[in-house]
Amino acid sequence: MTTSPPTPSPYLLGADDEERRRLLFQAELLREDTHALLDRLPLSGGERVLDVGCGPLGIMDALSARVGEAGQVVGLDAEPRMIEMARRTVAERRLANVSLATADAADTGLPRSSFDLVHTRLVLMNVPHTDEVLDEMVALTTPGGTVAVQDVDWLTRVCEPPHPSWDRLVTAIAELWRRNGMDVTLGRRLPGMLRRRGLVDVRVRASTHVFQHTDPYQTLLIDRARLCRSALVEHGLITDAELDDHVGALSRHLDDPDTLVVHATLFQAWGTRPATT
Ligand SMILES: C[S@@+](CC[C@H](N)C(=O)[O-])C[C@H]1O[C@@H](n2cnc3c(N)ncnc32)[C@H](O)[C@@H]1O
Repeated sequence: MTTSPPTPSPYLLGADDEERRRLLFQAELLREDTHALLDRLPLSGGERVLDVGCGPLGIMDALSARVGEAGQVVGLDAEPRMIEMARRTVAERRLANVSLATADAADTGLPRSSFDLVHTRLVLMNVPHTDEVLDEMVALTTPGGTVAVQDVDWLTRVCEPPHPSWDRLVTAIAELWRRNGMDVTLGRRLPGMLRRRGLVDVRVRASTHVFQHTDPYQTLLIDRARLCRSALVEHGLITDAELDDHVGALSRHLDDPDTLVVHATLFQAWGTRPATT
């Protein structure tokens, strides 16, 4: 597989074993959504497909099953440690039709017009150069092929009953993303971004999840705040002491069986590259 030198990734959530576990858990959580998307795409077996920013798994297992033995799945990630993790997952799950590449999503070095489906999930919200990544995704797609993007929008991200520490942490993290050129409300704009790149038959689907005190994602916001602690403090968005106070207060609130957490909305948008472009 052709690889190009990775550009330093701005991915703020790291690439350690804890992030691998989180991403594998999340892949399970989103399994129904993954299949709901793939059911709507023209995959009948034998296709060549690309998962951009695959992380330790992404949707490569579902793609592998859909394209079958005659098909090929390529997983691409800018972060060599993620590709190493993906290598482990692919071996553990015996995904024989999957290969991996290390490259930046905006400059993959992969052949133009060579994939029947180019997909990405939860990457665009985490990179500052979304336009370049989408341009590259379209360029990699065969005429008549499909580009599919999935990303979140913090539209629905609330806890019930409300809590001031929730609001404080959401605001600080959203601002950290903004200062890094990224946007936590990207999801709703995905269909328009595809249309503006000349894709046709653009469709959209959205869903969310609700968590209770027994669900691991009940504390996702707290986990994020801890993970981004140094960046939040360096940007002057919160002090260490404030962060500790909010995390403590919010942990107690989220541990209450009566507290619900509504997750961000997952937007899925897909469209066809016209046969003539
Ligand atoms: C939130 S994870 C999502 C992983 C996977 N798509 C999934 O849905 O489980 C974001 C992934 O994008 C990768 N990434 C970040 N910036 C990238 C870039 N510029 N090019 C390629 N991959 C990138 C990260 O290394 C990470 O694996």
